[in-house]
Amino acid sequence: MDFNQKLNGYTEKINGALKSIAESFPKNNIVSEAMAYSLLAGGKRIRPVIALAVADSLGGDMDMALCFGCALEMIHTYSLIHDDLPCMDNDTLRRGMPTCHVKYGEAYALLAGDGLLTYAFSHITRNVKDKAKAFDFINYLSAMAGIEGMVGGQTDDIKAEKERADIETLYSIHARKTGALINAAGAAGAIASGCAASFAEGYTKSLGLAFQIKDDILDVEGDESKMGKTLMKDINSEKSTFVTLLGLECAKAELTKETNKAIEACAAFKDEGEFLTLLAKAMLEREN
Ligand code: IPE
Ligand code: IPE
Ligand code: MG
Ligand code: MG
Ligand code: MG
Repeated sequence: MDFNQKLNGYTEKINGALKSIAESFPKNNIVSEAMAYSLLAGGKRIRPVIALAVADSLGGDMDMALCFGCALEMIHTYSLIHDDLPCMDNDTLRRGMPTCHVKYGEAYALLAGDGLLTYAFSHITRNVKDKAKAFDFINYLSAMAGIEGMVGGQTDDIKAEKERADIETLYSIHARKTGALINAAGAAGAIASGCAASFAEGYTKSLGLAFQIKDDILDVEGDESKMGKTLMKDINSEKSTFVTLLGLECAKAELTKETNKAIEACAAFKDEGEFLTLLAKAMLEREN
């Protein structure tokens, strides 16, 4: 299998669909413009890629997986806009461009996040004809995105800036602030293939943890021009991360451990989940 060719194929499909979605936002509205600015700024599109790859490896409905994956990318983008706000991580650079609030001001950035979050759900209800599957995904997605998932993780992440977290708490923070939306990506592909929402969790739970551990490592070791965001932020704000708690070498060992767990879970997929295995390896090596 040519991994890069397949990955680029998925990404092109996703970027095309996101562009059409942005074109459907109401015209002559500054918040629509801010929503499109952040949504189309680039990014790896890893969550919709997982949705498509899981559906592909289970012989699922690719159009449905794409629709679910794009909704998820809108929610992920909203989480980044809010994460960057001065009251949260206070960042000025995202996806190689000024953050949404730097470009549009805090009030419109806040609304752009709200707009993307809600549009994600209406994108599903308007476009997925199989209402039972749409319901299943919305049910899972809302739990993963909300207080039980990403929002809950972000809450404890803020707390862990003032008070040092222990390693178990940090696992729980990472599993929710980042892992939850990666789980939703797996669920998108699974539901679009007629499987239970939880079918891919063996893979996505470990991949999600690995993904945030790598993000913690890149904050220290990454190249700012490749990452498109300001680095050394976690260290300077004394945030609890795998690197600040365990040190770089132990953080890397945890990254390898979680990646290997994700790879083992690929056995549940067709062709031993060849693409998903290569994706987990690529995420281990990623430079952005
Ligand atoms: C950044 O997510 C925030 C984390 C959860 C670590 P990504 O690394 O997926 O960011 P983009 O979408 O590629 O910009
Ligand atoms: C963000 O984690 C997770 C979200 C839910 C947005 P980080 O705060 O570490 O992400 P970056 O480093 O700003 O991309
Ligand atoms: Mg943050
Ligand atoms: Mg941040
Ligand atoms: Mg980070």
